[in-house]
Amino acid sequence: MSDDHVALITGASRGLGRAMAETLAAQGFRVAINYASSHDAACAVRDRIVAAGGRAEVFAADVTDESAVTELGAAITETLGPVDVLVLNATGPQPAIPIEDLEWSDMLQQLEFFVKSPLLLTRAFLPTMKSRGWGRIIQIGSEVFTIGNANSSAYVSAKGAQLGLTRSWARELGPYGITVNLVAPGWIPVERHEGTAEEDFAGYLRDVPLGHMGTADDVAGAVAYLASDAGRFVTGQQLSVNGGRTFG
Ligand SMILES: NC(=O)c1ccc[n+]([C@@H]2O[C@H](COP(=O)([O-])OP(=O)(O)OC[C@H]3O[C@@H](n4cnc5c(N)ncnc54)[C@H](OP(=O)(O)O)[C@@H]3O)[C@@H](O)[C@H]2O)c1
Repeated sequence: MSDDHVALITGASRGLGRAMAETLAAQGFRVAINYASSHDAACAVRDRIVAAGGRAEVFAADVTDESAVTELGAAITETLGPVDVLVLNATGPQPAIPIEDLEWSDMLQQLEFFVKSPLLLTRAFLPTMKSRGWGRIIQIGSEVFTIGNANSSAYVSAKGAQLGLTRSWARELGPYGITVNLVAPGWIPVERHEGTAEEDFAGYLRDVPLGHMGTADDVAGAVAYLASDAGRFVTGQQLSVNGGRTFG
């Protein structure tokens, strides 16, 4: 069924998004690889997918910018077809900021990625999904909202807002055959975590029942399940991919 569908993964030039793009392409989805500035890295992801027999193309766009999202929608539709699987994954920096130093602009910076961008992208592709009576919206949240990490309230609250969008949109869009879910990874080492001290991993792993760090492929597998036909009766849910570190 997946070769009828086009999946857009925001922020797929590296990290978790790259694995999601490769996994969805391997399952037969035509894949739109979005990135902000890492053109060469995004092209390398596309080239690997194409070499493996998949279909993919790269699309530069700042997904927090309204006109850029409008142009992105038009470009993908022209190249690959209309998007009906939307994976809201892109993130900017997530600085640790204690409350005394926290500005409203710090809050807004996180809300741009985790509320504004999901809204812009969902609005852009909703007409296609509604007209098909089929769609998948998959938000990439985080375990930080369940845990409530200190010194991270801008990021944590924006991730919580993403879960709120997921639940409300699931009820609003269910009647149109569109599912809306959130995948909540634990700490999954990606490129930006290179150089992390072993003792930091060891400290984190004390609370992970499965006893090892997860991989980007673990998160991509959960996304692929929700995008697939097997996930058709699942909506409004948070699926934690963190080795059991949190329940729910
Ligand atoms: N890795 C973890 O441990 C972890 C844990 C929990 C949740 N998460 C969540 O998983 C998602 C992916 O995280 P990650 O660790 O894979 O991040 P990452 O490695 O830092 O990758 C971020 C991606 O977002 C893109 N991006 C940045 N600004 C953008 C913009 N304005 N418009 C479009 N794309 C933009 C980047 O593209 P450029 O390279 O072009 O800048 C890059 O492809 C995020 O939502 C994050 O909150 C991650």
